[in-house]
Amino acid sequence: MKHFTINSQRLKRDFEQLSEIGSSGDGGVHRPAFSENHLLARRWLQERIIEDGLEFFMDGAGNHSARLSTKNPGAPTLLMGSHMDSVPFGGRYDGALGVLAALEVLRSVCDARLELPCNLEAIDFTDEEGTHVGLLGSQALTGRLTPAQLLNPSSGHSALEAGLQRAGLNEAGIFSARRDPASLLAYLELHIEQGPQLVRACTQIGIVTTIVGMRSFTITYTGQADHAGTTPLDARKDAGLGTADFMVKAHARVRHDFPGCVLNFGQVHFHPGAFNIVPAIAEFKLEFRSADLGILNRMEQALLDLMAKTAEEHGLGVRVQPHGRLDPTACSPQVQKAITETCELLELKSIPIPSGAAHDAMMMARVCPAAMIFIPSSSGSHRPSEYASWEDCVNGANVLLNSAITLINQANL
Ligand code: GLV
Ligand code: MN
Ligand code: MN
Repeated sequence: MKHFTINSQRLKRDFEQLSEIGSSGDGGVHRPAFSENHLLARRWLQERIIEDGLEFFMDGAGNHSARLSTKNPGAPTLLMGSHMDSVPFGGRYDGALGVLAALEVLRSVCDARLELPCNLEAIDFTDEEGTHVGLLGSQALTGRLTPAQLLNPSSGHSALEAGLQRAGLNEAGIFSARRDPASLLAYLELHIEQGPQLVRACTQIGIVTTIVGMRSFTITYTGQADHAGTTPLDARKDAGLGTADFMVKAHARVRHDFPGCVLNFGQVHFHPGAFNIVPAIAEFKLEFRSADLGILNRMEQALLDLMAKTAEEHGLGVRVQPHGRLDPTACSPQVQKAITETCELLELKSIPIPSGAAHDAMMMARVCPAAMIFIPSSSGSHRPSEYASWEDCVNGANVLLNSAITLINQANL
């Protein structure tokens, strides 16, 4: 059966150019959402879209898109994409590959002079990584974002306000990004796996079945500042020691009671922060994940109880600020099937695979059929050494292109 091929050289040129924007000099990129590097990358994308003769669109949440409209009036849109923001000092593949491959799909459809019965759109979602509010752009687009989330970003409200201002956005306008689900035919996202399963299975493509659920909190333990030389160890209210104790106990509890689940303490600050002062305040960020909603909820209860009990043992006060609450998400069986058939057509070996990372596809799956295509990645992720072979990137982009066409054909528009 006939299949289509993306222009690998053109995609590579774009990938290399984008990797230079916010490059950390060691193979990685530093493009937290709304940072100058991130905004530079977005300006570069906008120019690229216009140069390519595609329609550029930006919504109230700052999501950037390239659009290729059909002549078929009232036709729905097949959306593809990912995100160009990165974690601090992250890798250059995470998110960026999915956005550029989606753009390449639109260009390849133009090259092949294909007249499709629906609109195609390649989207770069805002703040997938949660510098401020995780999955901000896709939550806004799907109508899942709440005003409370904007009031309580993980970066603090003034950092979000400053970022929005730099990007020419405002809080009220973010909600205007909401789209009518009936306007969306489906959503497809290409991404590196960020884990070892595909490499271990010597498989070229992973077809994502479920995406992990997660919860995140900023927790503040409050004790008492004291002289570090004169205060006996048993007479302290040490917020730092309480935090360390909770970290160790929480890891042990999850290993023992919640096998297969994960947790992370990604940031800890002690105040006032000097050699000779017992820490009065410790502020730390905790997140944990499970692919099973019931287990995730039980783990949340267990960890919050443990956090309170540990504080009591150390004589500390506690404040808990919840941030992200993402429930585990199933990908569309119909879209997974279309991707499986496409892999057979392209003679690429594929396996079904769960995702331990969060993705914009989680939000999209709540409003339209959505699924993800993974390619093998090695050398870790959320770090500069993150790596995928170019051959695998091209395979992934070709699966994206042909899966899009398969889905559109199957929709009988
Ligand atoms: C997104 O990369 C996540 O934190 O899973
Ligand atoms: Mn990431
Ligand atoms: Mn990502």
